[in-house]
Amino acid sequence: MKDKLIGVLAGLCAGGLAVQAAAEEIKVGLLLPYSGVYAALGNDIEAGFRLGLQTFAPETQASFAIVTEDTEVKPPVGLAKARKLVLDDQVDVIAGVVSSGVLGAIRDFVHGSGVPLIVANAGNDEATGEQCSPYITRMSFSNRQVNRPMGDWLHAQGVQKVFTIAPDYAAGRQMIGGFVEGFAAAGGDVVGQEYTPFQKTQDFGPYLAKAKASGADAVYAFYAGGEAISFVKQYDSFGLKAAMPLYGAGFLTSPLYVEAEGPAAEGVIAALHYVPTIDNPANAAFVAAYKAETGRMPSEYAVQGYDAARALVVASATGAADREGLARALAQVSFDGPRGTTAIDPATNNIVQPIYVYETVAGDGGLTQKVVAELPAEADPANGCTLSTTN
Ligand code: PHB
Repeated sequence: MKDKLIGVLAGLCAGGLAVQAAAEEIKVGLLLPYSGVYAALGNDIEAGFRLGLQTFAPETQASFAIVTEDTEVKPPVGLAKARKLVLDDQVDVIAGVVSSGVLGAIRDFVHGSGVPLIVANAGNDEATGEQCSPYITRMSFSNRQVNRPMGDWLHAQGVQKVFTIAPDYAAGRQMIGGFVEGFAAAGGDVVGQEYTPFQKTQDFGPYLAKAKASGADAVYAFYAGGEAISFVKQYDSFGLKAAMPLYGAGFLTSPLYVEAEGPAAEGVIAALHYVPTIDNPANAAFVAAYKAETGRMPSEYAVQGYDAARALVVASATGAADREGLARALAQVSFDGPRGTTAIDPATNNIVQPIYVYETVAGDGGLTQKVVAELPAEADPANGCTLSTTN
Protein backbone atom coordinates (compact mmCIF):
# COMPACT_ATOMS: atom_id res chain seq x y z
CA MET A 1 0.00 0.00 0.00
CA LYS A 2 1.40 3.39 -0.92
CA ASP A 3 0.91 4.80 2.56
CA LYS A 4 2.88 2.75 5.04
CA LEU A 5 1.92 3.83 8.48
CA ILE A 6 4.46 3.28 11.17
CA GLY A 7 2.42 3.24 14.29
CA VAL A 8 4.55 3.96 17.30
CA LEU A 9 2.91 2.29 20.23
CA ALA A 10 2.61 4.81 22.98
CA GLY A 11 4.77 4.60 26.05
CA LEU A 12 7.72 2.50 26.97
CA CYS A 13 7.60 -1.14 27.81
CA ALA A 14 8.78 -2.42 31.17
CA GLY A 15 12.38 -2.66 29.98
CA GLY A 16 12.36 0.98 28.89
CA LEU A 17 12.36 0.21 25.13
CA ALA A 18 10.11 1.96 22.63
CA VAL A 19 7.93 -0.58 20.81
CA GLN A 20 7.15 -0.08 17.13
CA ALA A 21 4.59 -1.87 15.02
CA ALA A 22 4.23 -1.65 11.27
CA ALA A 23 0.67 -1.58 9.95
CA GLU A 24 -0.87 -1.00 6.55
CA GLU A 25 -3.16 1.98 6.26
CA ILE A 26 -5.93 1.71 3.71
CA LYS A 27 -7.56 4.96 2.68
CA VAL A 28 -11.29 4.58 2.01
CA GLY A 29 -13.43 7.13 0.20
CA LEU A 30 -17.04 6.96 1.40
CA LEU A 31 -19.12 8.27 -1.50
CA LEU A 32 -22.62 8.78 -0.13
CA PRO A 33 -25.60 11.15 -0.20
CA TYR A 34 -25.55 13.33 2.91
CA SER A 35 -28.20 15.69 1.51
CA GLY A 36 -31.36 15.27 -0.59
CA VAL A 37 -34.04 12.53 -0.49
CA TYR A 38 -31.50 9.79 0.30
CA ALA A 39 -29.52 11.61 3.03
CA ALA A 40 -30.77 9.34 5.83
CA LEU A 41 -29.69 6.30 3.79
CA GLY A 42 -26.17 7.67 3.42
CA ASN A 43 -25.87 8.29 7.15
CA ASP A 44 -27.09 4.78 7.96
CA ILE A 45 -24.62 3.20 5.54
CA GLU A 46 -21.79 5.20 7.11
CA ALA A 47 -22.83 4.14 10.62
CA GLY A 48 -22.89 0.48 9.49
CA PHE A 49 -19.53 0.85 7.73
CA ARG A 50 -17.83 2.34 10.78
CA LEU A 51 -19.27 -0.40 12.98
CA GLY A 52 -18.06 -3.02 10.49
CA LEU A 53 -14.50 -1.66 10.62
CA GLN A 54 -14.65 -1.44 14.40
CA THR A 55 -15.85 -5.06 14.60
CA PHE A 56 -13.64 -6.79 12.03
CA ALA A 57 -10.52 -4.67 11.52
CA PRO A 58 -8.91 -5.61 14.85
CA GLU A 59 -8.53 -9.14 13.44
CA THR A 60 -6.03 -7.83 10.86
CA GLN A 61 -2.82 -5.81 10.58
CA ALA A 62 -4.47 -3.11 8.50
CA SER A 63 -5.79 0.20 9.72
CA PHE A 64 -8.31 2.29 7.82
CA ALA A 65 -8.67 6.02 7.26
CA ILE A 66 -11.99 7.39 5.95
CA VAL A 67 -12.64 10.42 3.75
CA THR A 68 -16.33 11.23 3.10
CA GLU A 69 -17.90 13.00 0.11
CA ASP A 70 -21.53 14.01 -0.49
CA THR A 71 -22.96 12.89 -3.85
CA GLU A 72 -26.32 14.55 -3.04
CA VAL A 73 -28.64 12.57 -5.35
CA LYS A 74 -27.09 13.99 -8.51
CA PRO A 75 -25.12 11.90 -11.01
CA PRO A 76 -22.77 14.75 -12.13
CA VAL A 77 -22.01 15.61 -8.49
CA GLY A 78 -21.32 11.93 -7.78
CA LEU A 79 -18.86 11.79 -10.67
CA ALA A 80 -17.06 14.98 -9.58
CA LYS A 81 -16.75 13.60 -6.03
CA ALA A 82 -15.50 10.21 -7.24
CA ARG A 83 -12.82 11.98 -9.29
CA LYS A 84 -11.82 14.07 -6.29
CA LEU A 85 -11.50 11.00 -4.05
CA VAL A 86 -9.33 9.14 -6.54
CA LEU A 87 -7.25 11.94 -8.06
CA ASP A 88 -6.85 14.37 -5.14
CA ASP A 89 -7.28 12.23 -2.04
CA GLN A 90 -5.65 9.17 -3.66
CA VAL A 91 -7.96 6.72 -1.92
CA ASP A 92 -7.20 3.02 -2.22
CA VAL A 93 -10.84 2.04 -2.42
CA ILE A 94 -14.26 3.69 -2.70
CA ALA A 95 -17.30 2.39 -0.81
CA GLY A 96 -20.88 3.59 -0.95
CA VAL A 97 -23.04 4.97 -3.78
CA VAL A 98 -26.77 4.97 -3.08
CA SER A 99 -28.46 6.00 -6.32
CA SER A 100 -28.43 3.81 -9.44
CA GLY A 101 -28.15 7.05 -11.40
CA VAL A 102 -24.93 8.00 -9.60
CA LEU A 103 -23.53 4.48 -10.09
CA GLY A 104 -24.25 4.70 -13.83
CA ALA A 105 -22.48 8.08 -13.96
CA ILE A 106 -19.27 6.95 -12.20
CA ARG A 107 -18.96 3.48 -13.75
CA ASP A 108 -16.61 4.40 -16.63
CA PHE A 109 -14.39 6.53 -14.40
CA VAL A 110 -14.10 3.75 -11.80
CA HIS A 111 -13.37 1.15 -14.47
CA GLY A 112 -10.82 3.37 -16.21
CA SER A 113 -8.98 4.42 -13.06
CA GLY A 114 -8.83 0.89 -11.67
CA VAL A 115 -9.94 1.90 -8.19
CA PRO A 116 -11.94 -0.82 -6.44
CA LEU A 117 -15.54 0.20 -5.72
CA ILE A 118 -17.57 -1.65 -3.10
CA VAL A 119 -21.18 -0.79 -3.87
CA ALA A 120 -23.02 -0.44 -0.56
CA ASN A 121 -26.45 0.31 -2.00
CA ALA A 122 -27.11 1.31 -5.65
CA GLY A 123 -28.86 -1.65 -7.31
CA ASN A 124 -28.19 -0.64 -10.95
CA ASP A 125 -28.39 -3.99 -12.78
CA GLU A 126 -26.02 -2.85 -15.52
CA ALA A 127 -23.09 -2.37 -13.12
CA THR A 128 -23.01 -6.13 -12.59
CA GLY A 129 -24.40 -6.97 -16.03
CA GLU A 130 -23.55 -5.47 -19.40
CA GLN A 131 -21.48 -2.69 -17.73
CA CYS A 132 -19.71 -4.92 -15.21
CA SER A 133 -16.11 -4.31 -14.23
CA PRO A 134 -13.48 -6.26 -12.28
CA TYR A 135 -13.21 -3.12 -10.12
CA ILE A 136 -16.88 -3.07 -9.10
CA THR A 137 -18.06 -5.50 -6.41
CA ARG A 138 -21.54 -5.22 -4.98
CA MET A 139 -22.27 -5.95 -1.30
CA SER A 140 -25.85 -4.65 -1.39
CA PHE A 141 -28.35 -6.09 -3.95
CA SER A 142 -29.28 -5.64 -7.58
CA ASN A 143 -32.60 -4.09 -8.50
CA ARG A 144 -33.74 -7.18 -10.36
CA GLN A 145 -32.60 -9.56 -7.60
CA VAL A 146 -34.88 -8.05 -4.95
CA ASN A 147 -37.97 -7.79 -7.15
CA ARG A 148 -38.10 -10.67 -9.63
CA PRO A 149 -38.81 -13.40 -7.03
CA MET A 150 -41.57 -11.20 -5.58
CA GLY A 151 -43.39 -11.43 -8.94
CA ASP A 152 -43.63 -15.21 -8.60
CA TRP A 153 -44.50 -15.05 -4.94
CA LEU A 154 -47.28 -12.49 -5.31
CA HIS A 155 -48.94 -14.42 -8.11
CA ALA A 156 -48.80 -17.56 -5.97
CA GLN A 157 -50.77 -15.64 -3.29
CA GLY A 158 -53.66 -15.28 -5.76
CA VAL A 159 -52.93 -11.72 -6.96
CA GLN A 160 -53.76 -11.62 -10.70
CA LYS A 161 -53.80 -7.95 -11.69
CA VAL A 162 -51.27 -5.38 -10.53
CA PHE A 163 -50.69 -1.64 -10.99
CA THR A 164 -47.04 -0.59 -10.65
CA ILE A 165 -45.56 2.76 -9.58
CA ALA A 166 -42.00 4.00 -8.99
CA PRO A 167 -39.79 7.07 -9.45
CA ASP A 168 -38.69 7.73 -12.99
CA TYR A 169 -35.00 6.88 -12.94
CA ALA A 170 -32.84 3.79 -13.42
CA ALA A 171 -33.67 2.13 -10.08
CA GLY A 172 -37.43 2.68 -10.43
CA ARG A 173 -37.49 1.25 -13.94
CA GLN A 174 -35.24 -1.71 -13.13
CA MET A 175 -37.03 -2.66 -9.90
CA ILE A 176 -40.40 -2.61 -11.62
CA GLY A 177 -38.89 -4.39 -14.64
CA GLY A 178 -37.62 -7.20 -12.40
CA PHE A 179 -40.96 -7.56 -10.66
CA VAL A 180 -42.90 -7.59 -13.94
CA GLU A 181 -40.53 -10.23 -15.35
CA GLY A 182 -41.39 -12.59 -12.48
CA PHE A 183 -45.07 -11.69 -12.30
CA ALA A 184 -45.74 -12.02 -16.05
CA ALA A 185 -43.80 -15.31 -16.25
CA ALA A 186 -46.05 -16.65 -13.47
CA GLY A 187 -49.14 -15.63 -15.49
CA GLY A 188 -50.00 -12.26 -13.86
CA ASP A 189 -51.32 -9.16 -15.68
CA VAL A 190 -49.94 -5.64 -15.30
CA VAL A 191 -52.99 -3.40 -15.81
CA GLY A 192 -51.28 -0.02 -15.45
CA GLN A 193 -47.87 1.58 -14.80
CA GLU A 194 -46.75 5.03 -13.67
CA TYR A 195 -43.29 6.54 -13.25
CA THR A 196 -43.30 9.70 -11.14
CA PRO A 197 -40.77 12.54 -11.59
CA PHE A 198 -37.84 11.60 -9.32
CA GLN A 199 -37.20 13.94 -6.36
CA LYS A 200 -39.89 16.29 -7.64
CA THR A 201 -43.18 14.59 -6.78
CA GLN A 202 -44.83 15.81 -3.62
CA ASP A 203 -48.45 14.97 -4.44
CA PHE A 204 -49.04 11.36 -5.43
CA GLY A 205 -52.83 11.94 -5.61
CA PRO A 206 -53.16 12.00 -9.43
CA TYR A 207 -51.21 8.73 -9.71
CA LEU A 208 -53.17 7.08 -6.91
CA ALA A 209 -56.41 8.05 -8.70
CA LYS A 210 -55.16 6.17 -11.77
CA ALA A 211 -54.28 3.15 -9.65
CA LYS A 212 -57.74 3.18 -8.12
CA ALA A 213 -59.43 3.34 -11.53
CA SER A 214 -57.23 0.59 -12.99
CA GLY A 215 -59.19 -2.36 -11.62
CA ALA A 216 -55.98 -3.89 -10.20
CA ASP A 217 -56.10 -6.33 -7.27
CA ALA A 218 -53.02 -4.69 -5.76
CA VAL A 219 -50.35 -2.03 -6.24
CA TYR A 220 -46.63 -2.85 -6.44
CA ALA A 221 -44.28 0.06 -5.71
CA PHE A 222 -40.66 1.06 -5.25
CA TYR A 223 -39.84 4.23 -3.33
CA ALA A 224 -37.08 4.92 -0.83
CA GLY A 225 -36.09 7.58 1.70
CA GLY A 226 -38.18 10.76 1.84
CA GLU A 227 -40.25 9.71 -1.17
CA ALA A 228 -41.19 6.40 0.51
CA ILE A 229 -42.48 8.24 3.58
CA SER A 230 -44.69 10.55 1.47
CA PHE A 231 -45.94 7.75 -0.78
CA VAL A 232 -46.87 5.29 1.99
CA LYS A 233 -48.66 7.99 4.00
CA GLN A 234 -50.57 9.31 1.01
CA TYR A 235 -51.50 5.78 -0.12
CA ASP A 236 -53.22 5.30 3.24
CA SER A 237 -54.80 8.74 3.52
CA PHE A 238 -56.15 8.40 -0.03
CA GLY A 239 -58.14 5.43 1.30
CA LEU A 240 -56.52 2.94 -1.08
CA LYS A 241 -54.91 0.59 1.44
CA ALA A 242 -58.09 -1.22 2.44
CA ALA A 243 -59.35 -1.70 -1.13
CA MET A 244 -56.04 -2.41 -2.87
CA PRO A 245 -53.24 -3.89 -0.75
CA LEU A 246 -49.82 -2.31 -1.16
CA TYR A 247 -46.80 -4.49 -2.00
CA GLY A 248 -43.35 -3.55 -3.13
CA ALA A 249 -39.59 -3.57 -2.86
CA GLY A 250 -38.97 -3.52 0.87
CA PHE A 251 -37.21 -0.13 0.89
CA LEU A 252 -40.78 1.18 0.89
CA THR A 253 -41.14 0.42 4.60
CA SER A 254 -37.49 0.32 5.67
CA PRO A 255 -36.92 0.13 9.44
CA LEU A 256 -34.87 3.31 8.92
CA TYR A 257 -38.01 5.42 8.42
CA VAL A 258 -41.01 3.16 9.06
CA GLU A 259 -41.74 5.02 12.32
CA ALA A 260 -42.12 8.23 10.30
CA GLU A 261 -44.70 6.42 8.15
CA GLY A 262 -46.54 5.24 11.25
CA PRO A 263 -49.74 3.17 11.02
CA ALA A 264 -49.91 3.82 7.25
CA ALA A 265 -47.12 1.22 6.89
CA GLU A 266 -48.95 -1.51 8.80
CA GLY A 267 -49.91 -4.43 6.59
CA VAL A 268 -47.61 -3.49 3.69
CA ILE A 269 -45.87 -6.63 2.39
CA ALA A 270 -42.54 -6.24 0.67
CA ALA A 271 -39.35 -8.05 -0.36
CA LEU A 272 -35.83 -7.30 0.78
CA HIS A 273 -32.43 -8.94 1.27
CA TYR A 274 -32.33 -7.96 4.96
CA VAL A 275 -34.65 -7.18 7.84
CA PRO A 276 -33.44 -6.84 11.43
CA THR A 277 -35.75 -9.66 12.57
CA ILE A 278 -33.85 -12.34 10.62
CA ASP A 279 -33.08 -15.11 13.08
CA ASN A 280 -29.40 -16.10 13.00
CA PRO A 281 -26.44 -15.62 15.38
CA ALA A 282 -24.54 -13.18 13.13
CA ASN A 283 -27.63 -10.98 12.93
CA ALA A 284 -28.23 -11.13 16.69
CA ALA A 285 -24.67 -9.86 17.26
CA PHE A 286 -25.04 -7.16 14.61
CA VAL A 287 -28.40 -5.90 15.90
CA ALA A 288 -27.10 -5.72 19.47
CA ALA A 289 -23.91 -3.87 18.44
CA TYR A 290 -25.76 -1.47 16.14
CA LYS A 291 -28.36 -0.67 18.78
CA ALA A 292 -25.65 -0.08 21.37
CA GLU A 293 -23.82 2.24 18.99
CA THR A 294 -26.74 4.23 17.52
CA GLY A 295 -29.78 3.59 19.73
CA ARG A 296 -31.83 2.29 16.77
CA MET A 297 -32.48 -0.94 14.91
CA PRO A 298 -30.29 -1.50 11.86
CA SER A 299 -31.83 -1.23 8.40
CA GLU A 300 -30.86 -2.82 5.10
CA TYR A 301 -28.69 0.27 4.52
CA ALA A 302 -26.83 -0.26 7.79
CA VAL A 303 -26.12 -3.92 7.02
CA GLN A 304 -24.87 -3.00 3.56
CA GLY A 305 -22.34 -0.62 5.12
CA TYR A 306 -21.38 -3.20 7.75
CA ASP A 307 -20.89 -5.97 5.19
CA ALA A 308 -19.01 -3.64 2.83
CA ALA A 309 -16.55 -2.90 5.65
CA ARG A 310 -16.29 -6.60 6.47
CA ALA A 311 -15.60 -7.44 2.82
CA LEU A 312 -12.85 -4.80 2.76
CA VAL A 313 -11.27 -6.18 5.92
CA VAL A 314 -11.43 -9.75 4.58
CA ALA A 315 -9.92 -8.65 1.24
CA SER A 316 -7.10 -6.72 2.89
CA ALA A 317 -6.34 -9.67 5.18
CA THR A 318 -5.36 -11.70 2.11
CA GLY A 319 -2.32 -9.44 1.87
CA ALA A 320 -3.69 -7.52 -1.12
CA ALA A 321 -1.37 -4.55 -1.27
CA ASP A 322 -2.65 -2.33 -4.07
CA ARG A 323 -5.87 -1.33 -5.84
CA GLU A 324 -5.59 -4.22 -8.30
CA GLY A 325 -5.01 -6.80 -5.57
CA LEU A 326 -7.81 -5.43 -3.43
CA ALA A 327 -10.24 -5.52 -6.35
CA ARG A 328 -9.42 -9.16 -7.06
CA ALA A 329 -9.67 -10.15 -3.40
CA LEU A 330 -13.00 -8.32 -2.96
CA ALA A 331 -14.53 -10.35 -5.78
CA GLN A 332 -13.82 -13.54 -3.84
CA VAL A 333 -15.31 -12.61 -0.51
CA SER A 334 -17.94 -14.81 1.13
CA PHE A 335 -19.14 -15.12 4.72
CA ASP A 336 -22.13 -16.00 6.89
CA GLY A 337 -23.36 -12.62 7.96
CA PRO A 338 -26.51 -10.99 9.31
CA ARG A 339 -28.45 -11.68 6.11
CA GLY A 340 -27.48 -15.36 5.89
CA THR A 341 -24.90 -16.78 3.51
CA THR A 342 -23.48 -13.92 1.50
CA ALA A 343 -21.17 -14.55 -1.46
CA ILE A 344 -19.98 -12.79 -4.58
CA ASP A 345 -20.90 -14.34 -7.93
CA PRO A 346 -17.60 -14.63 -9.86
CA ALA A 347 -19.47 -14.23 -13.16
CA THR A 348 -20.67 -10.68 -12.38
CA ASN A 349 -19.24 -9.55 -8.99
CA ASN A 350 -22.82 -9.18 -7.75
CA ILE A 351 -23.82 -10.47 -4.34
CA VAL A 352 -25.87 -13.66 -4.09
CA GLN A 353 -28.21 -13.83 -1.08
CA PRO A 354 -31.68 -14.95 0.02
CA ILE A 355 -34.64 -12.58 -0.36
CA TYR A 356 -37.07 -12.15 2.54
CA VAL A 357 -40.76 -11.28 2.15
CA TYR A 358 -41.86 -9.34 5.22
CA GLU A 359 -44.96 -7.63 6.55
CA THR A 360 -44.78 -4.47 8.63
CA VAL A 361 -46.73 -5.15 11.82
CA ALA A 362 -47.26 -3.42 15.17
CA GLY A 363 -44.96 -4.91 17.82
CA ASP A 364 -44.29 -4.17 21.49
CA GLY A 365 -41.72 -1.47 20.82
CA GLY A 366 -43.34 0.02 17.68
CA LEU A 367 -43.54 -1.18 14.09
CA THR A 368 -41.55 -4.30 13.27
CA GLN A 369 -40.86 -6.68 10.39
CA LYS A 370 -42.55 -10.10 10.37
CA VAL A 371 -40.84 -12.45 7.89
CA VAL A 372 -43.53 -14.30 5.93
CA ALA A 373 -41.34 -16.12 3.39
CA GLU A 374 -37.68 -16.73 2.60
CA LEU A 375 -37.06 -16.99 -1.14
CA PRO A 376 -33.92 -18.85 -2.25
CA ALA A 377 -30.77 -17.00 -3.31
CA GLU A 378 -30.47 -16.65 -7.07
CA ALA A 379 -27.60 -15.24 -9.14
CA ASP A 380 -28.65 -12.65 -11.72
CA PRO A 381 -28.13 -13.48 -15.40
CA ALA A 382 -24.72 -12.25 -16.59
CA ASN A 383 -26.28 -10.25 -19.44
CA GLY A 384 -23.08 -10.19 -21.43
CA CYS A 385 -20.73 -9.73 -18.47
CA THR A 386 -17.67 -11.93 -18.98
CA LEU A 387 -15.82 -11.42 -15.68
CA SER A 388 -15.36 -15.09 -14.92
CA THR A 389 -13.43 -15.47 -18.18
CA THR A 390 -11.25 -12.37 -17.66
CA ASN A 391 -10.72 -12.38 -13.88
C1 PHB B 1 -31.00 2.97 -6.23
O1 PHB B 1 -31.04 4.08 -6.79
O2 PHB B 1 -30.40 2.01 -6.73
C2 PHB B 1 -31.66 2.78 -4.91
C3 PHB B 1 -31.87 3.87 -4.07
C4 PHB B 1 -32.48 3.67 -2.84
C5 PHB B 1 -32.86 2.41 -2.45
C6 PHB B 1 -32.66 1.31 -3.29
C7 PHB B 1 -32.05 1.51 -4.53
O3 PHB B 1 -33.43 2.21 -1.27
